[in-house]
Amino acid sequence: DYQGLLDLPGRLAMTELTEAVSLVSSLAGVKPLVGVILGSGLGGVAGDIQEPVTIPYERIPGFPCTTVPGHQGELVLGRLEGVGIAAMKGRPHPYEGHPLAKLAFPVQMLRALGVETLVVTNAAGGLNPSLSAGSLMVLEDHINLPGLTGLNPLMAVAGGQERFVPMANAYDETLRRVVMEAAEEVGIRVATGIYVMVGGPSYETLAEARFLRQMGADAVGMSTVPEAVVARWLGMRLLGISCITNLLFGETGHDDDGHGGVVAVARRAVPDLAYLLRAVLRHVEATPAG
Ligand code: HPA
Repeated sequence: DYQGLLDLPGRLAMTELTEAVSLVSSLAGVKPLVGVILGSGLGGVAGDIQEPVTIPYERIPGFPCTTVPGHQGELVLGRLEGVGIAAMKGRPHPYEGHPLAKLAFPVQMLRALGVETLVVTNAAGGLNPSLSAGSLMVLEDHINLPGLTGLNPLMAVAGGQERFVPMANAYDETLRRVVMEAAEEVGIRVATGIYVMVGGPSYETLAEARFLRQMGADAVGMSTVPEAVVARWLGMRLLGISCITNLLFGETGHDDDGHGGVVAVARRAVPDLAYLLRAVLRHVEATPAG
């Protein structure tokens, strides 16, 4: 039944998607209900998955591959807290040269495999001075900066399909609360805030950072938003979590170690993020979507 939704960006992608779905479901032992996209340095979260089946992105027909250090480029399927899960260890980004429509592919594939709830994670720079490096931030909302200027993954949606996706309250309020409560119970520091997507891959100038802060963003990164848009387009329940790896205004800039530093700080947040993901899965198990 997903096929009508998948004509993006045309027949070729649709054939690839059908092939991708049949390959992955033939290898996977479970039907995933939850999908998680693990950003820079966060792939370790998939280490908790039981009875894991690991599929490199290169093996999946049509899948946009990633070449960024800290992104393993593997799909891991299995169970966590008794729930079928598909975890993407690493993601493709627009700055790797993927057309935005192609970035819809992994999310479409997850949906077609059965995923109803999508958790998107990323490493992000902190704009709000109350954030600290190494802490987590639950996305309350996002600013799709590339989208506002004409770079939206749904630009290639074929005529006749629904394309005017509402994005108000895109991030599920209940899942946000589940994460905040689970964090509070064990003393994990989690903020809530607004994520702004930029194209990258160069980091922000100080003037750009001030501009992003003034437009109301708490954290900035180069991913996540296209996936969030596609997830909402496909009617998925959505949760977003950033790991704040550096602060745009302060001592921990990118001067010394750039992306290497981002990955190193994100790695330290893996146990906390894995703990919170388990709480989300227990909630999903108790209250299925729909
Ligand atoms: N800017 C943009 N993207 C990022 C940053 C940053 O400072 N840190 C991690 N991802």
